[in-house]
Amino acid sequence: MPTIFITGANRGIGLNLARLYAADGWKVIGTARKPAEASALAALPGNISVEPLEVTDHAAVQALAAKLKGEPIDVLWNNAGVIGRNAASLGSINAQELRDTLLINIYAPILIGEAFAPNVIASRQKKMAFTSSKLGSIAENNGGRYAYGPSKAGLNMACMSFAGDLRSKGVIVLPLHPGHVATDMGGASAPVTPDASARGMKNIVDNATMADSGRFVDYLGKPIPW
Ligand SMILES: NC(=O)c1ccc[n+]([C@@H]2O[C@H](COP(=O)([O-])OP(=O)(O)OC[C@H]3O[C@@H](n4cnc5c(N)ncnc54)[C@H](OP(=O)(O)O)[C@@H]3O)[C@@H](O)[C@H]2O)c1
Repeated sequence: MPTIFITGANRGIGLNLARLYAADGWKVIGTARKPAEASALAALPGNISVEPLEVTDHAAVQALAAKLKGEPIDVLWNNAGVIGRNAASLGSINAQELRDTLLINIYAPILIGEAFAPNVIASRQKKMAFTSSKLGSIAENNGGRYAYGPSKAGLNMACMSFAGDLRSKGVIVLPLHPGHVATDMGGASAPVTPDASARGMKNIVDNATMADSGRFVDYLGKPIPW
């Protein structure tokens, strides 16, 4: 039975990924900041374990990595993220929100990727997926989003570093744009359902080979310019 580790698995895209992988017979390790409130995750049918994790808490990341030492993780999915709404517009950038967004969206996935790389290397499938965003595309940026855009552009850069460093170990690294998804972050009127987004990204991860490592694509496989 393959294993997937998903951060921010208690709602939105992460919860839908957890549901689909569990239904496919995978062991799912889903993290949540407040496990006591992660009832939708805990109630999913299948082999689900819920681990408490504030992704910016490096000591907690290291403690969880120590707990899971030696356990193969076929897919490590850094998914938790925030939009940084109050650090989006020039003239009203909230410094704390800028800092928090960068910590959650870049600092955390880098340190989580590093901490669990040995588990991925020890697995059969050896994949790292990252929920990035088209809004991290430098080529397509026309202004604004001072926290979110740089955070996802930085995440993409880190993905390329992981891809380069771990290629020789057979690890496939996949920065993915989930589409504009109807979650708390994306808003109820967003065009893509969480199910369709998660299904599309899972399909890409399921079929990924080393030739796909370091490619930035959306949930339907369409390439996104850096
Ligand atoms: N929705 C979209 O249209 C869209 C588009 C492009 C990219 N994305 C990306 O997709 C990913 C998932 O977003 P979503 O739409 O599913 O958003 P969401 O419904 O707002 O869910 C965000 C998830 O991240 C978790 N999280 C946030 N900060 C955290 C922290 N410091 N420590 C641990 N967990 C934390 C949340 O946990 P809590 O419940 O504890 O807050 C929640 O589980 C994000 O990386 C986002 O940037 C989304």
